[in-house]
Amino acid sequence: MTEAARQFVTPLSLQVASQDRVYTSLFEEPMAHISLPAKADVMVVAPATANTIAKLALGIADDLLSTCFLSFQGKMIIAPSMNWKMYENRTVRKNLDTLASFGVLQVGPEAGALACGEEGTGRMAEPADILEAIRSVLTPKDLAGEKIVITAGPTREYLDPVRFISNRSSGKMGYALARAARDRGAEVTLISGPSCLKKPDGLAFVGVETASEMRKAVVEAVAGRATVLIMAAAVADFSPKTKSAKKIVKTGEMALALSTTPDIVSSVSSQAERPFIIGFAAETGRHPGRAAAKMKNKKMDMIVFNDVTEPGAGFDVDTNRVEIIDGKGRTKLGIMSKYEVADAILDRFIEIRA
Ligand code: CTP
Repeated sequence: MTEAARQFVTPLSLQVASQDRVYTSLFEEPMAHISLPAKADVMVVAPATANTIAKLALGIADDLLSTCFLSFQGKMIIAPSMNWKMYENRTVRKNLDTLASFGVLQVGPEAGALACGEEGTGRMAEPADILEAIRSVLTPKDLAGEKIVITAGPTREYLDPVRFISNRSSGKMGYALARAARDRGAEVTLISGPSCLKKPDGLAFVGVETASEMRKAVVEAVAGRATVLIMAAAVADFSPKTKSAKKIVKTGEMALALSTTPDIVSSVSSQAERPFIIGFAAETGRHPGRAAAKMKNKKMDMIVFNDVTEPGAGFDVDTNRVEIIDGKGRTKLGIMSKYEVADAILDRFIEIRA
């Protein structure tokens, strides 16, 4: 804790919360500025004030934190936090650029209410996002060089400006795949239907609504020399034949004429130069055979089957229980977090493509 940090929180509070020793001074333990960094894989400065950022950028070493920075040789993350006008200041920007050129990863800041009572960009990134950055810098980059296009979430097919039909999907599986692939060094394009999830950092994001918009975005992204396409989106299978420009007035019962939407995965798998294609088959009941048939019919290289009626494998939950089917066999996995499922899918991709 720097002196400024101790104006906000006492060392005792952090010691109790972390159940660990808190260091505050350069001289309380001789050589702590050498021994502490030597033990660490990652160094995180959160929150990083304009003053600390300036010191780190210039190599000023006048307290425990800034001396630790100079002797540290691992991965470094900063989470800036300050008033928005200070964050816009050109000296601060220059110092942040300097730190970026040293390979220091910056997380945030975010827009919102600031400690000074003003609104703007300067809030420290959420702890969950800082944790994600830590995980990202520690992950081996075994997907470096891959260009992965991932679809996620549902699509919406409009009847009129206020009504649509859609598929049930939170987008959690596709977003977890995008984060896992990004953390493993891939260049990721995430094409997402409407979802409440926060857009992940460090990837190209394309927001779409309808199946035909998603198809267009996928074809464009794949044409940019994608090596892998992962279709985790729950694409609506049907679209109203006609879309009314005005809200349809309710007059009683109504029959809806539907046409099928374009099959996105097939429009890519039929191309001569095509990426490795991974699809999903969410079924109600244990039908891995149906999933395997879909893989074959749509000319996919791998399909991830899950039974949405099983506990811990349905919609809106953070876990999944899947079976990975590909040309070389079937891998049934136990219940795990969607991020772990994503890693398992990417592991299998590396394994079978080798
Ligand atoms: N998919 C697609 N385009 C569509 C529909 C589905 O690319 N219009 C993709 C999905 O993203 C998924 C795979 O195809 O990766 C299988 O989706 P699913 O809806 O299970 O397949 P369908 O062929 O639509 O079969 P069903 O009749 O069970 O809906």
